[in-house]
Amino acid sequence: DWIMGDYITEAVAKIKAQVGDEEVILGLSGGVDSSVAAALIHRAIGDQLTCVFVDHGLLRLNEGDMVMEMFAGRLHAKVIRVDATEQFMSKLAGVSDPEAKRKIIGAEFVEVFKAEAAKLKASGTGHKGATFLAQGTIYPDVIESGGAKSKKAVTIKSHHNVGGLPEQLGLKLLEPLRDLFKDEVRELGVALGLPRDMVYRHPFPGPGLGVRILGEVKREYALLLQRADAIFIEELRNTVDVETGKTWYDLTSQAFTVFLPVKSVGVMGDGRTYDYVVALRAVVTSDFMTAHWAELPYSLLGKVSNRIINEVRGINRVVYDISGKPPATIEWE
Ligand code: XMP
Repeated sequence: DWIMGDYITEAVAKIKAQVGDEEVILGLSGGVDSSVAAALIHRAIGDQLTCVFVDHGLLRLNEGDMVMEMFAGRLHAKVIRVDATEQFMSKLAGVSDPEAKRKIIGAEFVEVFKAEAAKLKASGTGHKGATFLAQGTIYPDVIESGGAKSKKAVTIKSHHNVGGLPEQLGLKLLEPLRDLFKDEVRELGVALGLPRDMVYRHPFPGPGLGVRILGEVKREYALLLQRADAIFIEELRNTVDVETGKTWYDLTSQAFTVFLPVKSVGVMGDGRTYDYVVALRAVVTSDFMTAHWAELPYSLLGKVSNRIINEVRGINRVVYDISGKPPATIEWE
């Protein structure tokens, strides 16, 4: 791709000029934007970039390993993986209000990241510590924070991002994706060698499974939810719609599983079960402001339900969410 090739050459030169021989630190989340930013900056300055990947224990199944394999393994980037699961779980214990959970997860994320940045500075691994903080801010984020947000009278959901972090850390900002729209970021990612599957993934909220486990978050719930969700996503990716020739993953804008901390009765063999319920959620939308529930084939829903109930011990009932937005939101919290 000629045009993207030229774009990369230019962007790399710009990053090199801006950074010089200084060090850059970047919070890698596994999402598209931070991944593409990391790949681009790594292309420009190699080992002057250190990525910090905070695993809060509320990511998708095997997400942490996949991120490490991609960035440390294939791109040979410097990545520090911080397993902060225990820390997040203990902060979240006893908290069931959705906004309170978002705030805790957002604040804890900043704390862990700050601690890592400080450690890095102190460790003196051949450098004097980062002077730049890189972020995967894209053009729509720039617009959103430029006033449109302040007009809103009520916050329906506070989207957590790392606002104010550069000031707190005393770092300069490096935002190489600031002029790009989402589809351009995706093309750039592919051109930089990131796998298509990763770059064209459905969006995943910053608080992760924290807002997909209703009420109090528990490790036990997260482990069940991760497995159920992986089955749903796998079946969506593997089922092709004959009319369009596309997979149901590509035909939906966002799809995921929600953990309901409710027990219901079931039968298994000649025994009675009393286990948890999960809800499948799949929507079609162009802007995420309004959305329709996806008309998934019954055969697909049936297969997902059977697999979850048979393979995930602890879940004995699966329901499908047929609510539009509005009045429902896409996430359940
Ligand atoms: P709702 O549930 O508000 O979701 O209809 C709209 C889109 O926003 C995502 N979402 C979030 N993303 N932090 C995020 O980074 C959050 O706290 C958050 N809450 C919702 C949601 O996944 C959907 O794509």
